[in-house]
Amino acid sequence: MGAEAPHPPIPSFVHQRTRLTEGQQHAWDRWWPERGRDVADLLSGAEPYDPQAWFGRTAPLVLEIGSGMGESTAALAAAAPDVDHIAVEVYEPGLAQLLMRLADLDLHNVALLRGDAVALLRERVPPASLAGIRIFFPDPWPKRRHHKRRLVQPGFVALAASRLEPGGLLHLATDWDHYAQQMRAVCDAEPTLENTAAGEPGGWAPRPGWRPVTKFEQRALREGRTVRDLLYRRRHADAPRAHAP
Ligand SMILES: C[S@@+](CC[C@H](N)C(=O)[O-])C[C@H]1O[C@@H](n2cnc3c(N)ncnc32)[C@H](O)[C@@H]1O
Repeated sequence: MGAEAPHPPIPSFVHQRTRLTEGQQHAWDRWWPERGRDVADLLSGAEPYDPQAWFGRTAPLVLEIGSGMGESTAALAAAAPDVDHIAVEVYEPGLAQLLMRLADLDLHNVALLRGDAVALLRERVPPASLAGIRIFFPDPWPKRRHHKRRLVQPGFVALAASRLEPGGLLHLATDWDHYAQQMRAVCDAEPTLENTAAGEPGGWAPRPGWRPVTKFEQRALREGRTVRDLLYRRRHADAPRAHAP
């Protein structure tokens, strides 16, 4: 997989050794073997990347990078039963929390993957196979010397766009102004993407009412930061690019 230029790893996350709560451990033991997979096993070939087999059907597929504690994942999966969702996260307590939410809501359209979403996209997700990619409140890495750890940078966005089917959507949200500007610049420069909100003030997408307010967003609002949504669509191969006036 991956005829595109080699893409260096992005150190976008830190490995946190956090113990699971009793409830999380219970959910993990009960549900992980059935619903969870390790990205490492998919990369090594120990297990196939096979969403059709995981879900037992063919349906539009949305991949979320960094599902955190799973609030948005579970709410959006509940709101879209005809769509299958893959949540990729490195933080185990978050994955366990998502397993609890899925059990509570009796949802079966979410598969959980533990590990690096960038490697997964590059090595295993076929080109033009996703209806959507969501990245809500990615770690902002605010210090200048850490900006290289930000997920949303040119090579990554080209990779992500290539995995979207034509018309597929890349949805980003952040509360860090500098990162929001970087996201806009990087996505605007990616020739295979177009900004669905180009006609909106500033080119920002209106905040969709269906995106739940997570604790990251609550804190941002409390601290007076502006939350930006960005919604880019993968162009159809023959669609001409609009020229700037
Ligand atoms: C700031 S949190 C936001 C979580 C959630 N999206 C929300 O809105 O509440 C960012 C999450 O992205 C995860 N993450 C960062 N880089 C990742 C990668 N390459 N693959 C998978 N998860 C990643 C981190 O572990 C962290 O949980």
